[in-house]
Amino acid sequence: MNKRITTVFLSLVIAIAAVGYFVGIGDGVPVPDGFHDSPLADRELNQTGGDAKLIEAVSYAEIAGTQMGPTQSWQMVPKTLPTRSYDLFAEIKPSEEEKLASSQTRSSRRAYNGAPPVIPHAIENTTDAACYACHSNGMKMGNLKASVMSHQFLANCTQCHAPMAPAPFRDVDASVNTTFVGLPAPKAGKRAYPGAPPTIPHSQWMRENCLACHGGGNGWAGMESTHPWRTNCTQCHAPSASLDQAVASDTIPMLPPLEVVGE
Ligand code: HEC
Ligand code: HEC
Ligand code: HEC
Ligand code: HEC
Repeated sequence: MNKRITTVFLSLVIAIAAVGYFVGIGDGVPVPDGFHDSPLADRELNQTGGDAKLIEAVSYAEIAGTQMGPTQSWQMVPKTLPTRSYDLFAEIKPSEEEKLASSQTRSSRRAYNGAPPVIPHAIENTTDAACYACHSNGMKMGNLKASVMSHQFLANCTQCHAPMAPAPFRDVDASVNTTFVGLPAPKAGKRAYPGAPPTIPHSQWMRENCLACHGGGNGWAGMESTHPWRTNCTQCHAPSASLDQAVASDTIPMLPPLEVVGE
């Protein structure tokens, strides 16, 4: 008896499901009331890739043959972003006021000199490719300049460059007590005599690309060198062994002292 009731019940469920399925697909894709009355909806336009403002949903079966939405012509090709032409040999006169303004902007984004700057803008896309699109060669957007990466390509930008705090926490003071004091930002290098090339007053670590800061189309205003075309900067500008933490090999504790054989 129980078995028969179960069989009848299951058959009923299957029959209702089957009827429901065919009634469902017979009705097509549901469209909100009034959709077709709106001048913004134009199925013809949608399908020919025109710019109808309301996009009608299509069924899964139709997706392959449909030109999707107004963004269909958008391309993910960061390389086509506009780059400004830059005259390498134009005369450059670095200005002290601009240098001061640049230094202030720079230090406002860095915990200490040489620290990775925080990201001063919203980021929606945290992939390296997105960051790289604007920061590989730098670019000018309105009156803002996206600075060039001063270091080689390192994956996962946000591992070191912290994004801004989200809006509700922007005014929260998250500073912690610490006795750490970073090096002050350099102002200028030492010179052997007036007109001599100044020494590099900062470490070269993470600053391999000198022109990221000192010139090129997207360097920092006021910090440009007057001679961006010279390729080997350290040929004239001496780096600092102590800032670069270059240690003489005989002071590395694990290694036996070098034997220098004189003649
Ligand atoms: C659409 C272009 C664009 C994209 C994409 C972009 N940025 Fe930026 N970025 C800028 C601009 C423009 C500035 C300068 C903002 C200013 O001066 O207020 C900037 C500034 C910065 C700075 C401060 C630089 C400095 O020297 O003070 C950092 C760090 C930074 N961005 C990191 C990132 C990271 C990491 C990503 C990827 C998650 C990213 N950016 C994606 C345009 C972009
Ligand atoms: C391992 C940590 C690390 C990673 C990963 C990293 N950066 Fe940096 N970045 C730094 C540090 C440190 C500096 C500061 C160098 C200095 O001022 O001495 C810096 C500086 C910069 C600057 C500013 C140059 C200037 O004008 O002062 C930009 C722009 C930048 N990075 C972008 C990026 C982008 C884009 C990525 C991902 C492709 C990335 N960084 C990955 C550590 C990192
Ligand atoms: C992340 C940005 C950045 C990078 C990259 C960078 N510098 Fe600097 N440099 C500075 C700042 C900031 C100063 C101090 C302000 C100034 O003098 O322009 C400075 C100062 C100097 C000075 C002294 C200028 C003077 O007027 O006395 C020299 C020389 C110099 N840098 C050479 C180099 C060389 C060579 C490289 C590449 C190995 C390099 N810098 C890479 C930021 C940078
Ligand atoms: C042939 C030697 C030589 C080379 C190579 C060289 N410089 Fe210089 N640089 C000098 C001299 C000399 C001065 C001092 C100019 C003065 O005081 O009038 C100087 C000054 C500077 C200054 C201070 C601002 C200015 O222009 O007076 C910066 C910054 C600088 N150089 C950066 C660089 C960078 C970055 C490179 C690599 C692209 C580089 N230099 C390559 C000789 C050189």
